[in-house]
Amino acid sequence: MITLGIEGTAHTLGVGITDEKCNVLANVIDMYRPPEGGLHPREAANHHADSVSATISKALSDAKLTLKDIDLVSFSKGPGLGPCLRAAATAARALSARLGIPIIGVNHCVAHVEIGNATTGCKDPVLLYASGGNTQIIAFANGKYRIFGETLDIGIGNMFDKLGRELGLGYYAGPTIEKLARDGKQLLDIPYSVKGMDMSFSGILTAAVTFRNKGHSLEDIAFSVQETAFAMLAEVTERAMAHVGKHEVLMGGGVVQNARLRAIVSQMAEERGAKMYVPVPRLCIDNGAMIAWLGHLMHASGVRMTIDDTKVEQRFRTDDVNVTWR
Ligand code: FE2
Repeated sequence: MITLGIEGTAHTLGVGITDEKCNVLANVIDMYRPPEGGLHPREAANHHADSVSATISKALSDAKLTLKDIDLVSFSKGPGLGPCLRAAATAARALSARLGIPIIGVNHCVAHVEIGNATTGCKDPVLLYASGGNTQIIAFANGKYRIFGETLDIGIGNMFDKLGRELGLGYYAGPTIEKLARDGKQLLDIPYSVKGMDMSFSGILTAAVTFRNKGHSLEDIAFSVQETAFAMLAEVTERAMAHVGKHEVLMGGGVVQNARLRAIVSQMAEERGAKMYVPVPRLCIDNGAMIAWLGHLMHASGVRMTIDDTKVEQRFRTDDVNVTWR
């Protein structure tokens, strides 16, 4: 059973191909990079629509397969930016119609969990999902993937990107901020904003910009933002683990590339006798292989979708997914 998955929730167009054992046969990632400023959904969607055909061809070539070998097509149904979601969905519908194969729309956040489960060896983790558009702490409880904590405003990666723009560090500023933070010495008073189990990142951004205007170094600002934001993530993740009694923490999302975040979470896990699992980088970031794999799991468990069922859902909630495969 060969599944081709198309990811298109935001800036990344991904096409992945998996088999029924979650061998990743191809995982092509084509990220849209805006020439300047922030991500414009329409422009990213145009990029996806223009590139999807070539990206599918590249994935088939990497997997040494042809279209005839594909048994199932899946795509990211949500959550995400409407125009981007529609570009991926349109490509998936066209493939399904042309090849006469079933189509499954999947939840992007749940796909991060399932690719982690399948490739890292963890069994029943709490997922710390930290990316540009999403920041959620997710675990399986009482038949569903439930959100135990999440951002109340912007995703943590989005906060880093906005901060990068404000400080003149360019777009996708996470790696630059991580590098600067290594030389930070002074922990500035950045607002630590955990409300119940939820988090807020926009106040961190405002405070960081204010510190810059007062003449503090980029290194100290980057260091302080990271230490504060990552401690918030680790606190909420730890409380979720304690609440549901789980002993594994799985990392997902682009921000997980940050070594300092992994070090903080790993230390938290160790101190409570738990273990941290991190998928390989290309399965951590947004990618088509995770979409293919969740599509396969859903299809194998009996889920079927008509074209009418494939409407995209910009606000598709993790806890709205009917988990039929566990
Ligand atoms: Fe993601």
